[in-house]
Amino acid sequence: MAGKDCVKVAVRVRPFNKREREAGSRCVVSMSGNAITIQDPRNPHTRRTFTFDYAFWSHSGFIRNRDGLFVAEEPGGRYADQGNVFNDLGQGILENALQGYNATLLAYGQTGSGKSYSMVGYGPNKGLVPTLCERLFRAVKANQESCQCQMLFSMLEIYNEQVIDLLSKGGRSPGGLRVREDQQRGFYVEGLRRVPCDSAEQVEQLMEQGTRTRTTAATHINANSSRSHMLISAQLKQIFTEENITKQSNINLVDLAGSERQRCSGLEADRLKEGTAINVSLTTLGNVISSLADAALGKKVVHIPYRDSVLTKLLQSALGGNSRTVMIATLSPSDICYEESLSTLRYAERAKRIQNKAVVNESPTERLVKELKAENAKLLLRLSRLGQDGRKTEEESKELRRLLTHNEMQIKAIQTLWEHHLQEALKDWETQYATITQERRMMQMHPYILNINEDPQLSGVVKLFIQEGDWDIGLSEGTSRTITIKGLGIQERHAVFTNEDRGVSITPVSGAKLMVNGLPITYRTELQHLDRLILGSSSTYLFVGFPCERGAEDWSRYDYDYFQSELAAAAGIHIPTLCEEQSPGVSGEPSVGLAQTDPSLLAVFYDYIKLIPMVTEANQMSQELNKGVEFKLEIKNLAMSDCRGRDLEKDIAVRVTSLENKQVWMWSKVKFVNRKFLMEEVYQQQVGSGGRQEAERQPLPRDRDPFWDPLEPLHLGSAHLWLQSLAFRIPLEEQVEVLGPEGTEEAILQAQLLPCSPMGLPLGEEDILIDPTELLGKRLDFQLFLEQCCGLRWLKEAKNRGVQIGFRVYDCPQTFYTPAVWHNVNPLLEHRLHFSAMRTSQDLLNYLQSSALVLELWGLQEGCADMVSSMEGLRMTPEGSFIIDKASAPDPSVLESPGCVSDLRSSMRALHQDLEQLRSANAALRKENNTLREQLNRGSESAGRGRPERRGSLRPSCDAELARALKVFYHSMTSVRAQLQRLRRHRPSEEADLLGLRLFVDEQSRLLRDFGEQLEESVTALKQDVAAIVRRKRERSGIWS
Ligand SMILES: Nc1ncnc2c1ncn2[C@@H]1O[C@H](COP(=O)(O)OP(=O)(O)OP(=O)(O)O)[C@@H](O)[C@H]1O
Ligand SMILES: [Mg+2]
Repeated sequence: MAGKDCVKVAVRVRPFNKREREAGSRCVVSMSGNAITIQDPRNPHTRRTFTFDYAFWSHSGFIRNRDGLFVAEEPGGRYADQGNVFNDLGQGILENALQGYNATLLAYGQTGSGKSYSMVGYGPNKGLVPTLCERLFRAVKANQESCQCQMLFSMLEIYNEQVIDLLSKGGRSPGGLRVREDQQRGFYVEGLRRVPCDSAEQVEQLMEQGTRTRTTAATHINANSSRSHMLISAQLKQIFTEENITKQSNINLVDLAGSERQRCSGLEADRLKEGTAINVSLTTLGNVISSLADAALGKKVVHIPYRDSVLTKLLQSALGGNSRTVMIATLSPSDICYEESLSTLRYAERAKRIQNKAVVNESPTERLVKELKAENAKLLLRLSRLGQDGRKTEEESKELRRLLTHNEMQIKAIQTLWEHHLQEALKDWETQYATITQERRMMQMHPYILNINEDPQLSGVVKLFIQEGDWDIGLSEGTSRTITIKGLGIQERHAVFTNEDRGVSITPVSGAKLMVNGLPITYRTELQHLDRLILGSSSTYLFVGFPCERGAEDWSRYDYDYFQSELAAAAGIHIPTLCEEQSPGVSGEPSVGLAQTDPSLLAVFYDYIKLIPMVTEANQMSQELNKGVEFKLEIKNLAMSDCRGRDLEKDIAVRVTSLENKQVWMWSKVKFVNRKFLMEEVYQQQVGSGGRQEAERQPLPRDRDPFWDPLEPLHLGSAHLWLQSLAFRIPLEEQVEVLGPEGTEEAILQAQLLPCSPMGLPLGEEDILIDPTELLGKRLDFQLFLEQCCGLRWLKEAKNRGVQIGFRVYDCPQTFYTPAVWHNVNPLLEHRLHFSAMRTSQDLLNYLQSSALVLELWGLQEGCADMVSSMEGLRMTPEGSFIIDKASAPDPSVLESPGCVSDLRSSMRALHQDLEQLRSANAALRKENNTLREQLNRGSESAGRGRPERRGSLRPSCDAELARALKVFYHSMTSVRAQLQRLRRHRPSEEADLLGLRLFVDEQSRLLRDFGEQLEESVTALKQDVAAIVRRKRERSGIWS
């Protein structure tokens, strides 16, 4: 029945992890029966519900019992522990395998969502694989009278489309093992070690060996285990002697790579292949599942792309073939993982539709024995007939006898081969068991260092003992007193451990990179129990002191994040809450008190510590491959580009500098991660396989070089030119600071905002508005004049550079750029643009009153093209100014696109003539006006002191005074605002000691005082002015009334 073999799908939700608890995450997943609902944290009304074969709630309602097992708080509670998961999923696989069906279990989910926890388990919380093996052997033992059982166990890893045998006794073959295709067997891995097993202990020990190989592979080839797939295969063969039948089952247990997709928000096109190609196997698996799901829905599917990746080749029968398959999709419950969790659920939903065609298997080996036996029976018959015939007996019977012996030998060989292999494997097992026992004994006697890996599955796997005396540590395998480690940036002889007088110290060899507790070390340093060591670029170890020094402390807090946080703190990036003493909560509930840190800041912090080791590794690879570029992490303040100057968001970028000519590139986080992966590929090809000295011999063409990029203009920083004065039609002349992403002063920019007439003539004081709403519905014209840039830091660093200023104005669809200016620290820009709003809207007015023009400073380097303003989508007035506030722009017939500007030249000329006439008329009128004013003044003075003023023009004069007062106030506000910005940016220096901090506090108080005084002064001045105007007005109106 087709329905019977649909892929069974389960989902499991894990508890919050440390990061999520600290970030004060909210749980966005809920379960009811087998239905799981996920809620969009940004839009709580958006919920999606999915139904699966099983749903496991492992998020809350649990405790850790005395044996270290996570179990439900109350008996019968909803918490699904490892045992429950096994009963629902593992038991079925076990039964299928015993019945002779192929069975597959896949774990899918984002990094850190609990795939390995479910599949392999941690400590006493054993996962599906070890429990399955244990139950399998238990079942087999119970039937051993009637059934002989053989199990072959193998374990492999697929990393970057290379197959690594995790149980291999020999070294790693370069390029990995090959996947071949055979008519009968389908795809298989050539030369993969398959170890005969007959006990669960043996399997566990093999898994331990596999994990150890995975750990060394990860450091050796500089790989990230989250990007690798682990595939455990157990071939189970049951020979039922009485019934004379053999059942065979291939069990595949797959812990897939983390399923993170590259988020669209951060994704920009990279010249080189994109991040999504990083895991071809995972992408192809998705495609295969989609195609099979479509086929199950009756859609026409021509091709299932099994052959496109190593993983899908090996899983061909598990997906749509001869296998009973189960998928467990693991989820983080947290709001910050919403996108990933939703994508996992969608993936699982598709997988649910896949239909397989499982059959009970008959072993080819058994068939061969059967065939051989049948052939022998025939041969014997012929032999007896030959004897009766009596002709040509000699020769023919000789041949028949030879064939018979050959067949019998073959049968025997097939039957004894298993015994032979099993004996060999047991011998191996015994030696390894002895090694493990020896290791346990050593742990009780000597200090040692313990590896700490980004993937908690691989942490604590490698233990290197420091016995008495001096011990070299490094790549070298030379002497008997050498501890050999591999890893990026590790020297042949890297450091020396000295264990004497019940103390251990470490001395780096000259030139070797060594950090202890986050700080670089160049001299002999005493080590304390639980000190953190980083050797080379990123080989992280925890030092475990003498047994007498070890207490009951919880070592688990010294995880990979801890190491990186220490490095970040040393670089001045610090989130205090992160380093507070805290026990890893086990209740599954978010701990209170840690949730104060802004989650977005925390996310940036975690990004930062995630990238620290990657940047160090990239630098090491660049150095070894002579690439001459250096990478540096930077935290960008996105307020730079915000037109309201909001100081909320930050992001990470990587600055790439060429050491030779100081060329600079800025890479986004996503681009860097992608490039880092490609660098690893190049590094493996050039150094990993071929030996270090050959690195220079294989130069990579630039277009494929992940270390190189064509030069592009660089965003150096931004300045904010506040637009409020335009709402009052007050001209503004400013010297604004251009601030870099880290708050450094990149330049000073002289800029002006000039309200003007449609023809570009400056407005007079009488045009100043008291109430900006007067602008509504009226035309507003202004000019932006960028005069000069002073003190360009970009140019001070290197003279052969240039700059441009880019900016966007309100709803103009394009960015405007000033022409490029080169080789000058204080270049003149003299760039003037005229903008017109034909009928000022409320939106534009709001914009003017609350926003700034963000003036972006772009750095140019020799060989990179200038940026040019595009005219597309821009509209202009007949006078040649750019139209803003288009929604309220009038009759489009008066507006023309820049393409038609030439057609308008003649009318422009006519208008200019009109304008000239108007100008001279205006000048004459002004002159006359002035004379009249003078006469009036003189008249009023001579009209006698003590007499009240009398003029009909009282109102306009009052308004003008108010306008002037406002102008003064506005100008003082500009400097108050600058003072506020200075205060915001004012931070203690990274190296500040106590004295430094005191100085900082004093300075801060001074700035605050200045700020307060200035503010106070401005407000008082305005109050006084207004009061005076009001008083005057009252006096006058009182007298006149
Ligand atoms: N159901 C669970 N109960 C308790 N802890 C869990 C559970 N699931 C996962 N964890 C914890 O979460 C952490 C990450 O889990 P795990 O290593 O299984 O993730 P993963 O999906 O295998 O990640 P990667 O893709 O990096 O291999 C581990 O420390 C693990 O102990
Ligand atoms: Mg894992």
